[in-house]
Amino acid sequence: MADLDGLREGHNYGIGVNVVSQHFPVKGAENLPWGMKDRLSRIFNMKTGRTVMLAFDHGFIMGPTSGLERIDLTILPLIEYADCLMCTRGILRAVVPPMTNKPICLRSDAGTSLLTSLNDNVLIDIEDAVRLNVSAMAVMLAIGEAEHEAKTVANLYKAVDAGTRYGIPVMGVTAVGKDMARDARYFGLASRIAAENGANIVKTYYCEGFEKVVAACPVPIVIAGGKKLPELEALELCYKAVNDGAAGVDMGRNVFQSEAPVAMLQAVKAVVHDNMSPNQAFELFNELKSR
Ligand code: 5RP
Repeated sequence: MADLDGLREGHNYGIGVNVVSQHFPVKGAENLPWGMKDRLSRIFNMKTGRTVMLAFDHGFIMGPTSGLERIDLTILPLIEYADCLMCTRGILRAVVPPMTNKPICLRSDAGTSLLTSLNDNVLIDIEDAVRLNVSAMAVMLAIGEAEHEAKTVANLYKAVDAGTRYGIPVMGVTAVGKDMARDARYFGLASRIAAENGANIVKTYYCEGFEKVVAACPVPIVIAGGKKLPELEALELCYKAVNDGAAGVDMGRNVFQSEAPVAMLQAVKAVVHDNMSPNQAFELFNELKSR
């Protein structure tokens, strides 16, 4: 029997006061269910609507590439500065401590290696993604590659079906085929196809005319950093991307191959979340590096 002694009568009903309105600051996500929004709110900063994802999934294609030979030594010290971690299930289980309590964007397709043709992918079992308590699943799309396009679109489609069942958002990753022009027309096409097939986030590359790619994509776009650039140039890339409407970055090599990865990640965050100019962020990088 519940204890009814001393029960206090409710009196604060706010009669006449409008219900507190809630705005969800992630593009295209307003109509998603609670579980999806909860996961997205772990990935995106709810004040800025942006994210700095740290990508270190490269080994699933490239093996122990520079900066990822010993993830325990190079990546673990970066984790506290990232908003979200993007990696494979193998690295997550074997190296990332479960008590890091950072949202995970799980690389959820697998393909061949850089030694053979890319993108002949298979998809993770959704139960494994659930077991790992991930906040999003990342799946590659090879738009314009005759041999692999349909298979990768089907993979994305299946991932969205499974993710919708369990409330897990999907990030469509636009791969760039060897013969594809890296321009706004191509990235606009690939990003839009990812979103049309249900991706909740799109990862693509920055290009001339990027604002059109963003405008025509109904969900947030984050940019990959691509190959290692000098730090100032990488910060300029981040700045231009968010200025043109990107919701942040999913960056790997330009962070973990930097001469000072912890400083670089903090400088990237200052650009993405605080709108710091590239020059100021570069000064910050140098100051943090010298500490
Ligand atoms: C590999 C990827 C990477 O995560 C992505 O390219 C981001 O890393 P980088 O900034 O080094 O390009 O999707 O398939």
